[in-house]
Amino acid sequence: MSLKGFSHIGLSTLDLDRTRDFYEHVLGFKPVRCDILKVKEGGQIRHIFFDTGRDQLMAFMEARGVPGIPAEYDAGINGGLGVPNAFYHFAFEAGSEAALEEKRDELLAKGLEVTEVVDHGWAKSIYFKDPNGIQLEFCSFVRNLNADDARMQDRAEISIRRLGLEDPAVLAAARR
Ligand SMILES: [Fe+2]
Repeated sequence: MSLKGFSHIGLSTLDLDRTRDFYEHVLGFKPVRCDILKVKEGGQIRHIFFDTGRDQLMAFMEARGVPGIPAEYDAGINGGLGVPNAFYHFAFEAGSEAALEEKRDELLAKGLEVTEVVDHGWAKSIYFKDPNGIQLEFCSFVRNLNADDARMQDRAEISIRRLGLEDPAVLAAARR
């Protein structure tokens, strides 16, 4: 069987309505499957799958009143773990460099904070966050990857700020 990429990525949120509004109206991903799951032990879980394109879905679960599931947690993942924003992130395909620029303008016009286009040499990216604090990215390859790309080697020196570690003290506090 050939490899076929992701079916879906599963995430969680404390506020599914706000999450839906962002993914549906800001990013334009259509909700394609919505469930309310009653939990036998109490409470319920709401679940939405969004179509991010090319039959790849992104799903969010929101638990309410379910025993053993905390009412509050950092659904943005990195902050709660005390690691840089770059560690856990999800990148959507932009399609082309022109489309990446267009997407940046579109997100800025919708009031989002978006980085400049970052040039990785082999790809260009923009970064922003969803309402949960989840680190998101649109990315576009600027050339094909080759055998040299696949060989582990020294590439560049980067700063921790570049990894999204804006304030090391804040993240150190989160780890405690
Ligand atoms: Fe990335």
